[in-house]
Amino acid sequence: SIKRQTQLGEIIVTFQNEPKGLGHAVWCAKNLINDEAFAVILPDDIILSKTPVIKQLINLSQNDNCCTVLGVEKVDRKEVFKYGILSVEKKIGRKCFVESIVEKPDVKNAPSNLSVVGRYLLDSKIFNFLSKMKKGAGGEIQLTDGIQYLIKQSNVMGLEFEGKRFDCGNKLGFIKANLSYGLYDS
Ligand code: G1P
Repeated sequence: SIKRQTQLGEIIVTFQNEPKGLGHAVWCAKNLINDEAFAVILPDDIILSKTPVIKQLINLSQNDNCCTVLGVEKVDRKEVFKYGILSVEKKIGRKCFVESIVEKPDVKNAPSNLSVVGRYLLDSKIFNFLSKMKKGAGGEIQLTDGIQYLIKQSNVMGLEFEGKRFDCGNKLGFIKANLSYGLYDS
């Protein structure tokens, strides 16, 4: 298993030297990506699934010829202030066409309870926006605002993926993820 991992591809590391937001962190990889579509995986969202969520997003991207696809999940309405939240134009089964996205809205202003979790396929045109270094919610450069920029130019889709997500940004979520992966593997 360890040997297989060493053959998966080339690993290049880049650092975000200041905590300026997720959009800024992604912008730090701009020179490694150039003009290709790319995937973003936030490692504090761990998702146990038969098919990796990024692969599920790629399948939708290819079938529907859509460059930007977001992993989405319904959350408790009380929790929307923690996430990027979607307003949806049309929903077909598990997939949807995204009308707009807002970062960490108040519970009372949230357009829905459909949140983006840490899996994204993105059009490299997002760098046109991120390069402006425009601050958004919380005074940070937000990936969500870059996605809103993409929505204005082309189709952006969401997929309610198959899988169980663990929020490893908190200790309990991290413990639950370890137990579930352990049991899955046993
Ligand atoms: C980030 C994103 C947010 C997304 C979330 C998923 O927020 O900014 O849009 O919904 O990840 O976990 P963070 O968790 O870094 O505050």
